Amino acid sequence: MRIRFIAASLAAALCTVPFTGISVAKAENTCTTGDLNGNGTLDCPDILILQKYILGAEKLTLESAVSADINGDGKVNVFDMIDWREQYSETAVKLDLSGTFVTDSGAVVRIAGDCGNDGVSQFSVSCKGEDVSFSYPDGVKKSGTVSFSDKNHFSVKWSDGSTENFTRREIKIIQGITYVNDILIANKSYSLPETYNPGALTADTQAAFEKMQAAAAKDGIKLWVCSGFRSYSYQAQLYNGYASRDGYTKADTYSARPGHSEHQTGMAMDICYAASWFDNTPETIWLAKNCYDYGFILRYPKGKENITGYMYEPWHIRYVGLENAQLIHDSGLTLEEYLGIDSYYH
Ligand code: DAL
Ligand code: ZN
Repeated sequence: MRIRFIAASLAAALCTVPFTGISVAKAENTCTTGDLNGNGTLDCPDILILQKYILGAEKLTLESAVSADINGDGKVNVFDMIDWREQYSETAVKLDLSGTFVTDSGAVVRIAGDCGNDGVSQFSVSCKGEDVSFSYPDGVKKSGTVSFSDKNHFSVKWSDGSTENFTRREIKIIQGITYVNDILIANKSYSLPETYNPGALTADTQAAFEKMQAAAAKDGIKLWVCSGFRSYSYQAQLYNGYASRDGYTKADTYSARPGHSEHQTGMAMDICYAASWFDNTPETIWLAKNCYDYGFILRYPKGKENITGYMYEPWHIRYVGLENAQLIHDSGLTLEEYLGIDSYYH
């Protein structure tokens, strides 16, 4: 009885979660159980189906019954519900509402209220409609219902019915180098000091590339780095050469000014096939589809030229680490949009 009560309470807490759902396919421990309605995510409707069955309100379909036997003991009961909850917590994004965020209007807010680091407790706070405290610099406090899309992005439905989007943006400047959410940034807005010179691709970047290159080779795709690390002075030579050929305005659309190139970070590279630029080839398609699985993002996508500041470059990838690459890829945003930063020469 007690177990049933706990399970029912958990279900009630989970089922009012204003969360967009967890992709089962992308979860580290890919699970086929628990997705009772077969929509590819572990989310509220699944636990509702299980709850209704346990309370005797509804029958399960054969497929649901197979999915619902989460502990594999041949029965569907509250123990499966408890296991479902554990599985859900494992795959759920760890949410933390505290920190510095930028809003749609560009306002920077420090959120003092912390709804907890645990996905489930975060959900129950929102689900109960409890006010979340937002402390604005001018002393204004507002409350609303929070809905996360990932750990760095959430929106709030304010009590007046309006909605506002928040993007985590924690900027640190260490020895002249800018990190946003711990990602080193080099773009038109943020530059690197002339003295910043790792001398080569960083060890992590090189290792990730080699892993990706080996995986691509298995698929019959040959990937090569035709331009990796570039020093400040080498970038200056390149940029000045392009500018004298095409003029500064044109050069700025495809070449970074010295100090502003990601190549200087040692974490960006141009990938070529047989040492030539490529687009819409099996190599481009493979890279776009798979690079984030190795910690890379395509940095200058098509149609986002006004945001990144550069023309489409299907060959230029940036190492940001596995977790960031997957989050950024899944968001469908450029690095600038994902971090709430801009890219233009000030
Ligand atoms: N082509 C890129 C933008 C660079 O020069 O770094
Ligand atoms: Zn490049």
